[in-house]
Amino acid sequence: MKKDIWTTNQIGDLTGKVFIVTGANSGIGFEATKVFAGKGAQVIMACRNQSKAQDAKQQILREFPDAKLVLMQLDLTDFSSIESFSNEVKLQYQRIDVLLNNAGIMTVPYGSTKDNLELQIGVNHFGHFYLTMKLLPLIDKTPNSRIVSIASIAHKFGKLNPTTFVYDENRKYHTARAYAQSKLANLLFTYGLQTRLEELGSKVKVLAAHPGISRTNLGEHIKTLSYKPIRGLINLFNQSQQEGSLPGIRACTDSSAKSGQYYGPSGFYEMKGHPVVTKSTKRSHSKELQNILWEESHKITKQDILL
Ligand SMILES: NC(=O)c1ccc[n+]([C@@H]2O[C@H](COP(=O)([O-])OP(=O)(O)OC[C@H]3O[C@@H](n4cnc5c(N)ncnc54)[C@H](OP(=O)(O)O)[C@@H]3O)[C@@H](O)[C@H]2O)c1
Repeated sequence: MKKDIWTTNQIGDLTGKVFIVTGANSGIGFEATKVFAGKGAQVIMACRNQSKAQDAKQQILREFPDAKLVLMQLDLTDFSSIESFSNEVKLQYQRIDVLLNNAGIMTVPYGSTKDNLELQIGVNHFGHFYLTMKLLPLIDKTPNSRIVSIASIAHKFGKLNPTTFVYDENRKYHTARAYAQSKLANLLFTYGLQTRLEELGSKVKVLAAHPGISRTNLGEHIKTLSYKPIRGLINLFNQSQQEGSLPGIRACTDSSAKSGQYYGPSGFYEMKGHPVVTKSTKRSHSKELQNILWEESHKITKQDILL
């Protein structure tokens, strides 16, 4: 049987399409932005640091001088920043073909978002939940649009514990557990949103992907002794950020992709390899957990689906 080896050569012309990539200046988001822009899409680079974003834009322009790249400030730790970003997008654009919820942080020290949420769940889930709800009316109006979230192998170890969502300086914090929870949340959100949109008759496709283990800036906080074994493993079984970006890029562009699919690398334990449809855990498909997360997200962000 012929192997399913997908490459970016299979992506058609994206001229006229508008893509939004969160965290577009680094790692997976940077590589995805380069590919989308190289295929003609206008890409809104949603970044928290404008000087890093400007550098990334210049780097892409050196390779693709005609790339249509727009820098817009977005800080996912701050609902008011997400609000301003979304309002600006809705003012300036008549369509959003793809929203790639990619930005993320991993195993950072305990800290709080501007809205008093624990940082990892705050950035990785609640910020993207808020952003998606704000942009959904425009995404829904755009034919063949999709929303893709970047999850992780770490979701397999994730457990949902709503008591940890709000920052509390007296709470015991486990960095890796908090990251795993936030990545499980990416999948619970994807499947929960897919169900809700289908019930409402929306044609928006909702998908997720993960990059295996890829050499990006994400691991900058894995420096403590307790993470040494993980670092060793990472160095043995990782892939480039370019290879790691392919599952997300495929989820965003493959015309045969279906709502609810999850893409990841094909190799051993999905750490590296070419991008294929894969499976997430039973827990990530739990309707009960999807509903709990949705209710908490609604309570915390005051946002919900408004088509
Ligand atoms: N690399 C891997 O092996 C791996 C494995 C599994 C999943 N992932 C997922 O892949 C996604 C991308 O990560 P990466 O590996 O490409 O890491 P990265 O190189 O560190 O990129 C992360 C991006 O997110 C941005 N970001 C962080 N906090 C933000 C905030 N508050 N507001 C807006 N943007 C923010 C960063 O901006 P700055 O540059 O300003 O910090 C950066 O652009 C993440 O969701 C991560 O969980 C990665």
